Amino acid sequence: MSRSWLGRAYDREVLGRVLDAAMRGVEPLRAKLLADARGRVVELGFGTGSNLPFYPEAVTSLVAVEPSEGLAELARERLRRSGRAHEVVVGSASRALPLDAHSFDAAVLTFVLCSVKRVPDLLAEARRLLAPGAPLFVAEHVLAPTRATATAQRLVRPAWKAALGGCDPARDTRALLEAAGFDTREVRDETLALPFPVKSGLVGVARPR
Ligand SMILES: C[S@@+](CC[C@H](N)C(=O)[O-])C[C@H]1O[C@@H](n2cnc3c(N)ncnc32)[C@H](O)[C@@H]1O
Repeated sequence: MSRSWLGRAYDREVLGRVLDAAMRGVEPLRAKLLADARGRVVELGFGTGSNLPFYPEAVTSLVAVEPSEGLAELARERLRRSGRAHEVVVGSASRALPLDAHSFDAAVLTFVLCSVKRVPDLLAEARRLLAPGAPLFVAEHVLAPTRATATAQRLVRPAWKAALGGCDPARDTRALLEAAGFDTREVRDETLALPFPVKSGLVGVARPR
C-alpha cells in the first residue's frame, strides 16, 4: 500500500497521537486481555502499538500487521525500543499475508473490526495463521445489546463513520466471529471506558472451531 510522504507523516504524527489519546481508557482492559498470551503472536491492525506494553514475557516474538505505512513506521520504532523479537508486515489482513499458515500460537485483534471493509476475509486470514485451537484475543466495540442503545448507535452511524474514517459503531461482531468459524463462548459482553456510541464491547478469547 503506497501513500505519499505527506500521508505517511500525517498518519504517524497526527492520527497516531489521536488514536493513543482516544484509547487511553482501555489500557486496563488490554493488560487483562493479554496476560495469558504466549509464544509467537501476530497482531492484526497494530496501529501505534498500544498493546505493546501489555504483552507478557512469555510472548517470544511478535509480528505486527498494519496497512498504514505511517503507523507502521511508528510501530517499527516502538518495537525496536521494546527489545522484543519482532517483524512488521505493512499490508491489509483482509488479504493473504506473507506469513505461513498455522504458524502462530495466538492472534490479537483489538479495536480493528469496526473499520475493516471485508471482515469475513480478515477473520479467515486470522484462522489461517493460527495453530489448531490457538486463541484469538479480541477486544472490540460493538452493536449494543439493548434495543434503545442499538437504535441510537444506528442513528449516529452515518455521521460517526464520516468523521472517523469508516468506524462503524453498530457492528455485530460476535455474529461475524461465529460466521467465520470461531467459538465465542469465552468472549464476554463488557462496558468499555469509551464514549457513546462505542461503549458496548466484546472482550475475551475466540477459538477456531
Ligand atoms: C482504531 S485502530 C486500533 C489499533 C490497535 N489495534 C489498538 O488496539 O489500539 C485500528 C487499526 O486497524 C488498522 N486496520 C484497518 N483495516 C485493516 C485491515 N484490513 N487489516 C489490518 N489492519 C487494519 C488501521 O490502520 C488502524 O491501525
